[in-house]
Amino acid sequence: MKVKFKVFRFNPTKDEKPYYSEYELEVYKGMTVLSALNEIKEKIDSTLSWRQSCRMGVCGSCAMVINGKPSLACQTQVLELKTDEITIEPLKSFPVIKDLACDLNNLFKHHTSIKPYIIRKDVEETVNPEEEYIQMPEELENYLQFAYCIKCGACISACPISQSNEDFLGPQALMSALRYIYDSRDNGFEERLAILDSPNGCFRCHFAQSCSYVCPKGVDPAKAIQFLKREIVLYSLGIKKKKKISQLQKLGEKLKEIPEKYKYPEFTIAKPQ
Ligand code: FES
Repeated sequence: MKVKFKVFRFNPTKDEKPYYSEYELEVYKGMTVLSALNEIKEKIDSTLSWRQSCRMGVCGSCAMVINGKPSLACQTQVLELKTDEITIEPLKSFPVIKDLACDLNNLFKHHTSIKPYIIRKDVEETVNPEEEYIQMPEELENYLQFAYCIKCGACISACPISQSNEDFLGPQALMSALRYIYDSRDNGFEERLAILDSPNGCFRCHFAQSCSYVCPKGVDPAKAIQFLKREIVLYSLGIKKKKKISQLQKLGEKLKEIPEKYKYPEFTIAKPQ
């Protein structure tokens, strides 16, 4: 079966307008959009540009808009699109560097602004730790789904607010903020509050939910943003309980009570014969 690939082309360093190039390929079972792009580059047009790395949905670099939906090219099966014409465009909301490769600086700027790391009040312990930051499996469950984000930018590309306002923190950064706020080892809620509750923070989200619809890792940023709004409202009403730093010691005590099923088995290394 032959499929036509209509690919967005644009080189902002040249005095040219964006246009589409069309290529026709014989497709096969198992062929991804990324394999198709590679085949086009190898056999038909070596000037085509995009970004890729892992080829297995982990690094997030191959995100692009495929038939109107922000997706990972390496995870999108050509035959599953069930069409003989596939349009491939760069992510929306980001400036194009060349063809399908975008400048994701804005994503990382917003991501950095929410302080995406564990913040603790016992700074001395953070710098010179004496023991591990202990966490129960139930506490990990609280934020695990939100830790699967690969920062591909698909959610930002789908978000109508991000498309019209580049200062909006966007679904990726807001979801990441919740990931740290829900982490039992973190005490940084108040430190992040000013940015999260700012005019371009979580209350700018109108809950279109398109971010969750396109997320290739099932992270559900729309849900995270609603949880974040709730945390801020409860805090403003004085209902949110502040995490205490003594929690580390409490967790230390908890560790002694860890049920058998959560304990690591003891490993023995077989001696060579
Ligand atoms: Fe890494 Fe597609 S190449 S996610």
